[in-house]
Amino acid sequence: MASKRDRDRRGIRYSVMPAVCLCVLVASVWPLLQPEAASGQDSVASQKAFADAAQVFFHPRCLNCHPAGDAPLIKDDSQPHLFGVKRGADGKGVAPLSCALCHRDANQPGGPPGVPGWHMPPEHMPMVFQGRTPGELCRQLKDPRHNGGRTGVQVIEHIDKDPLVLWGWSPGQGRTVPKMSHEDFAAKMHEWVKKGCACPD
Ligand code: HEC
Ligand code: HEC
Repeated sequence: MASKRDRDRRGIRYSVMPAVCLCVLVASVWPLLQPEAASGQDSVASQKAFADAAQVFFHPRCLNCHPAGDAPLIKDDSQPHLFGVKRGADGKGVAPLSCALCHRDANQPGGPPGVPGWHMPPEHMPMVFQGRTPGELCRQLKDPRHNGGRTGVQVIEHIDKDPLVLWGWSPGQGRTVPKMSHEDFAAKMHEWVKKGCACPD
């Protein structure tokens, strides 16, 4: 016959075991209940990735085609473009000074830089980088009203492959390039998207 002490011990075991099991169960499914952790999202890491990458957007090789005004800019101090060139409705200039008149498929030594399709964003969607804070730029890149209807994933595809973006790292003529390599920049922007497209303040 079980002594009273045995019965008490069993009693404790029966009351503690379910509680332990419940804790183990909750601990194992908890991450799945958190939408962020479950999908690999992490807003702090995402924000930081964007903040690190932001320096590239504000480099003159990028900013000169993404100005606040209605004309492209030139050189490292982002001066007005020569000949009073203007954006034009489609970002391809105002005749006769269309971008393609001077900018060709490759950088011209001693002349205008170039890649196929050289132009700036159109009037109705100017995609301004100049004067934005990293947080403002981040929110703009996510906003379909200001980004040509792109999702975060489409923004990074553009960053991976667009010849105008790649040109920023081979601009010719001894022009300066962003400190961060294209590879590191693309990796940061992928991390930004993968971890949830969170924006710095
Ligand atoms: C009449 C010729 C001409 C036309 C038209 C022209 N450009 Fe240029 N562009 C140049 C020259 C020359 C340079 C080189 C200036 C320098 O770096 O000293 C230049 C430089 C630039 C740069 C500077 C790149 C950098 O960061 O160093 C940008 C941006 C640019 N052009 C955009 C445009 C856009 C966009 C258009 C059409 C809306 C356009 N250009 C039309 C001749 C032209
Ligand atoms: C010669 C001009 C030119 C240069 C230089 C340039 N861009 Fe752009 N950029 C454009 C044009 C034009 C578009 C719009 C293209 C479209 O909508 O298809 C664009 C769009 C973008 C977009 C998409 C924005 C959005 O809201 O979807 C990003 C991101 C971008 N550029 C990044 C860069 C970066 C980074 C650099 C420098 C490494 C750079 N660009 C240099 C012309 C330029």
